[in-house]
Amino acid sequence: MKICRSIEEMRAACLDLRKAGKRLGFVPTMGALHDGHLSLVRAAKNSCDAVAVSIFVNPTQFGANEDLAEYPRTFDRDREMVEKEGIALLFAPSAKEMYPPGGTTWVTVEGLSEKLDGRSRPGHFRGVTTIIAKLFHIIEPDVAFFGQKDAAQVAVIRRMARNLNFAVEIVACPIVREPDGLAMSSRNRYLNPAQRKQALILHRSLMRVRELWKAGERNAAQLAATGKAEIKKESRVRLDYFEIVDPDTLDAVVTASDGTLVAVAAYVGSTRLIDNILLQST
Ligand code: PAF
Repeated sequence: MKICRSIEEMRAACLDLRKAGKRLGFVPTMGALHDGHLSLVRAAKNSCDAVAVSIFVNPTQFGANEDLAEYPRTFDRDREMVEKEGIALLFAPSAKEMYPPGGTTWVTVEGLSEKLDGRSRPGHFRGVTTIIAKLFHIIEPDVAFFGQKDAAQVAVIRRMARNLNFAVEIVACPIVREPDGLAMSSRNRYLNPAQRKQALILHRSLMRVRELWKAGERNAAQLAATGKAEIKKESRVRLDYFEIVDPDTLDAVVTASDGTLVAVAAYVGSTRLIDNILLQST
């Protein structure tokens, strides 16, 4: 596995792979890797000839009062984890390398970037789409892999790739959960044991909605009300949003149908967690 710290080095290494006729898969991450990230790496390995992973805690996607300074940085462990997976390239640039002085150009997917997490975290998706556009330009992957846990991020990146004609296929991989249902997240490590238990309410609320959907309920307002009521049962968890939306436009739907996205975000202590399901009748 080659570790590249500079854009120039990474660009050259990716070009070599593409010149050798390799189909290049890309998994962008902010490090603090867990099995969810490894599932993306494995999906990339299964469908590509070579895989590049990036580890970069992107400062522009954090708001002023968010956890940029505390965000877990576990590079040595991360490097070992991806090396074991047999990837070709690891890109780990510094913030100065990615954002040298004079950076005044931003990539924004208007409208979509203000929905779900974008509404609660103003400017977040502008930071995500800017860094992903930069990484796509440097790496020029054939396929890029993202976790379905960040469903709004997937919608925003798909739209950006389509609107800006990036020649990359965007693949969303299923959420990986702990045995008790908690969606894997780098932020789970912020939770103390009591909060770790409280956090299960996110998954439980989604399961409650799924049950109701399976029993035939199609009214989105009714489904959302049930999900919100479930979250309320855990008095220490503060709901941010519970929404039933179209997974591409992120607009609220009136009637839930196959493929409708049910998404929840909530604070457990000061940790903001997200989770979601796609409704399926089969
Ligand atoms: O999902 C993440 O970890 C980040 O938002 C991403 C896609 C790596 C961009 O910094």
